[in-house]
Amino acid sequence: MLDKNTIVGVIGSGAMGAGIAQVAVMAGHKVVLYDNNAAALDKAKGNLILTLQKLQEKGKINDAAAITARMNFAAELSGLAECQLVIEAIVEKLEIKKAVFAEVEKLVAPDCVLASNTSSLSITSIAAACTKADRVLGLHFFNPAPLMALVEVIPAVQTAPELVPAAKQLMQQWGKVPVIAKDTPGFIVNRVARPFYGEAIRIYEEGIADMATIDWAMTEIGGFKMGPFTLMDYIGHDVNYVVTETVFQSFFYDPRYKPSFSQKRLLEAGWLGRKSGRGFYNYAADATMPESNKDTVLGYRIVERILVMLINEAVEALHLNIASAEDLELAMTKGVNYPKGLLHWCDEWTADKCLAILDSLYHEYHEDRYRASALLRKKGTERERFFPAQ
Ligand SMILES: NC(=O)c1ccc[n+]([C@@H]2O[C@H](COP(=O)([O-])OP(=O)(O)OC[C@H]3O[C@@H](n4cnc5c(N)ncnc54)[C@H](O)[C@@H]3O)[C@@H](O)[C@H]2O)c1
Repeated sequence: MLDKNTIVGVIGSGAMGAGIAQVAVMAGHKVVLYDNNAAALDKAKGNLILTLQKLQEKGKINDAAAITARMNFAAELSGLAECQLVIEAIVEKLEIKKAVFAEVEKLVAPDCVLASNTSSLSITSIAAACTKADRVLGLHFFNPAPLMALVEVIPAVQTAPELVPAAKQLMQQWGKVPVIAKDTPGFIVNRVARPFYGEAIRIYEEGIADMATIDWAMTEIGGFKMGPFTLMDYIGHDVNYVVTETVFQSFFYDPRYKPSFSQKRLLEAGWLGRKSGRGFYNYAADATMPESNKDTVLGYRIVERILVMLINEAVEALHLNIASAEDLELAMTKGVNYPKGLLHWCDEWTADKCLAILDSLYHEYHEDRYRASALLRKKGTERERFFPAQ
């Protein structure tokens, strides 16, 4: 169904589309990259050629010219007519994506697989724009696509069952780590990771600790590569806040995913983070970064609170069959580089300890936000693990 000879089309030559095209062409496919913006396509072309040259200079590849020769750039959608797999990575707007899917379906063969790289939209509603909705699925890559191993494979309600293992196998051939996620808001990573940001902001808003101290605790004690505020500034509040708001709305306003005013105000101010020179932190050349308060008792309290919220999210996702336990672990370690899978972390801390921390937050605040997953309660009460002890 999908193999090395599959001609791959990519729609949208922005950050994600250009990266996905690079991954596919380096995996041996003939690739057609299309964008309706000529300048964006030109930029992607220049960058791709340069990237392949650099990879050759570094000795990572030795056939840059041959790879470049497999790469085609199309200024019209009709350039995708020969493709057997088309991956869409355009602007995150449902109506625009639906129109593009309906249009591309008319051009390609009836067995051409159509995939969306959407971060937050329902694959099922995108598929509904197609006559043959059973050929549509989600292939969610992470940024930058050539470097991040994870791909979430998301079957829509309508997707032909045999397409899922075929897509998974193709992603493995591309050197990726595919996981299967249910078509629910945020899929795996963008759902389970919400408390990393939300609970950190909540701790800051309550004045329990400042941003620098929370970042210090999560990196030095928690072992995360970046603290939540540094990471949000890095991702950009136009992206990170919007994902939080979309997930919150898509979950019928579940308070667990409630966005914060602190982050919304940054967005309103145009303080988007690193890219605009200011976000939670000030990145001006003459600005000094705030010092953290290296109080380990406070640090452990911060890590404990954010981590049990993350663990609870992962356990709830398992409870609701969003993904298998193994795929949940792969998603968080390969998609956002967490130092450990959250279910393993729960086993290490023990489910009854995690449950006790969460219940004490629930009793303190009386907020639904801190409700424990029924599965965490069961595991905690029965003192069970998610994975056998090593
Ligand atoms: N940036 C990320 O971190 C990230 C990660 C995973 C998934 N995604 C998803 O990938 C998609 C693309 O994101 P991005 O960050 O690459 O965006 P981007 O803005 O960098 O690129 C989008 C590209 O699509 C083109 N485009 C827009 N409408 C088009 C149309 N109708 N036809 C053809 N081309 C069109 C634009 O000209 C632009 O070049 C979105 O659905 C986003 O949610 C983004």
